[in-house]
Amino acid sequence: MTSHGKLFGVGVGPGDPELITVKAVRAIKEADIIFTAASSKNSYSLAVEIASPYIADTAVTRQLGFPMTKQSDTVEAAWTANAKEIAQELKQGKTAVFLTLGDPTTYSTFGYILKKMKCIMPDADIETIPGITSFHAAAARLNRILVEGEESLLVTSGAYGGERIRKVEDVENVAIVKAYKNIKDINQTLKDTGLYGNSVAVSKCGRSHETITENIDDLETRDPDYWTLILASR
Ligand SMILES: C[S@@+](CC[C@H](N)C(=O)[O-])C[C@H]1O[C@@H](n2cnc3c(N)ncnc32)[C@H](O)[C@@H]1O
Repeated sequence: MTSHGKLFGVGVGPGDPELITVKAVRAIKEADIIFTAASSKNSYSLAVEIASPYIADTAVTRQLGFPMTKQSDTVEAAWTANAKEIAQELKQGKTAVFLTLGDPTTYSTFGYILKKMKCIMPDADIETIPGITSFHAAAARLNRILVEGEESLLVTSGAYGGERIRKVEDVENVAIVKAYKNIKDINQTLKDTGLYGNSVAVSKCGRSHETITENIDDLETRDPDYWTLILASR
């Protein structure tokens, strides 16, 4: 029998404090230690703010750095150091929660933690608790069906523009997260692939300063917020 603790990867939803699951709340309440990602640019954690009503007074909250760089040595070293820090707590029998916005299996820093934990502590007890993704929340906000019948849905990053969307044929519906960079190229791609007519952008869904942009051309006239996604359909 092991006396090791347990790690929960917990999704707290897209920002609306009511879109957190009962299971996530229970894990947060029972945690000895709460970990969250802090980029080197911004130490403010919205995930902690959403979780804060449920964090025990006795629990410790700690931010882990995930450097915003493409230098693989730097990021690998940071991920390993973060996983070691978590493993240290588990070895002391602690229950740890790693908070992520949205869902932990979807474009999340928890993915890096999981990968490294499996290497440095293969016997670690880990449970992933899903969260409501940003694009599910946006579809619900718009009373818009994401996918139905025999259709398919492409979930993709827009960080490098519309490249991925051009490569996929016959997809009826697309959800583009990270639609804050290369918006010109994304916009052109939507037009070229017949997806523009039924497209909408949602920024800060369920949070203050939420915006809904039905004319994607308008996004080109301003720098879209980092928290912007696009839903598009044929
Ligand atoms: C690193 S990904 C995180 C995705 C998240 N794990 C999820 O399940 O939705 C960040 C991107 O998610 C999208 N996003 C997250 N929260 C959002 C929100 N409240 N409103 C609109 N987009 C959001 C944005 O496109 C943002 O650039």
